[in-house]
Amino acid sequence: MSKPAKIDPDNIPSHIAIIMDGNGRWAQHHKLLRTMGHKVGVDSVLNIIKSCRLLGVKVLTLYAFSSENWQRPEQEVSTLMSLLKTFLARELTNLTQNNIKLRAIGQEERLPADVREVLHHSIRQSADNTGMVLNLALSYGSRDEIVRAVRLIAEKCLRHELSLDSIDMETINEHLYTCGLPDPDLIIRTGGESRLSNFLLWQASYSEIYITDTHWPDFREPQLLTAIADYQKRQRRFGKTGEQVATRTSEETS
Ligand code: IPE
Ligand code: IPE
Ligand code: MG
Repeated sequence: MSKPAKIDPDNIPSHIAIIMDGNGRWAQHHKLLRTMGHKVGVDSVLNIIKSCRLLGVKVLTLYAFSSENWQRPEQEVSTLMSLLKTFLARELTNLTQNNIKLRAIGQEERLPADVREVLHHSIRQSADNTGMVLNLALSYGSRDEIVRAVRLIAEKCLRHELSLDSIDMETINEHLYTCGLPDPDLIIRTGGESRLSNFLLWQASYSEIYITDTHWPDFREPQLLTAIADYQKRQRRFGKTGEQVATRTSEETS
């Protein structure tokens, strides 16, 4: 096995967001049921949470279930919901011991009542933790999030709590599910597809995107380190020239 990639501890992305894709194909490849792919995928979730916490990542967002995933066969949806419930119930102590605060984004009203209950309980119990935010995207869809934000803002305008002129990018940020969280620095997609699948469309404006063919159940700390090493090789220019960014960085470090 090759050595894990070397990374610079001073340039760890503050917010990593992951599209955890490829569970079904992983299972197919191993001649197993899709469900097994999701089950082994939970082990990757635990491994990646632990690694991110140790690396000093501030926010880890995991795309666990999209608003479109409800269209899957009922059996698969119920397996995913049950895995989620077990995960939340079993991992609360682990999260708290590691000072991890749980948060969720998405249409929580669509989740089954029992899942919602354990989710709320874990969010409440971990609310004062400060080490890292674990942000689960559950029944999440970016377009739905934007529609919701527009409605909330329009309501405030109608009630004269907000004036049209005062609406700016910050207003939009404040009305998204991700309110209060920084934009992702790095978005990782496993399973090889080159698309965002309705994930953080607004927030991803300047995220670095890393796509790997590795399926999610095989994605563990060594693969995460490779992704971070790749991120660290990039120059984030935010529309400026490479020279401008290089000058600013050298000024900051002198
Ligand atoms: C990701 O794996 C898990 C969810 C979307 C819930 P998939 O189940 O989409 O796996 P593939 O893409 O079919 O291999
Ligand atoms: C994206 O994966 C959603 C999650 C990983 C939760 P999908 O498997 O749903 O994406 P598509 O359908 O291939 O775009
Ligand atoms: Mg998929």
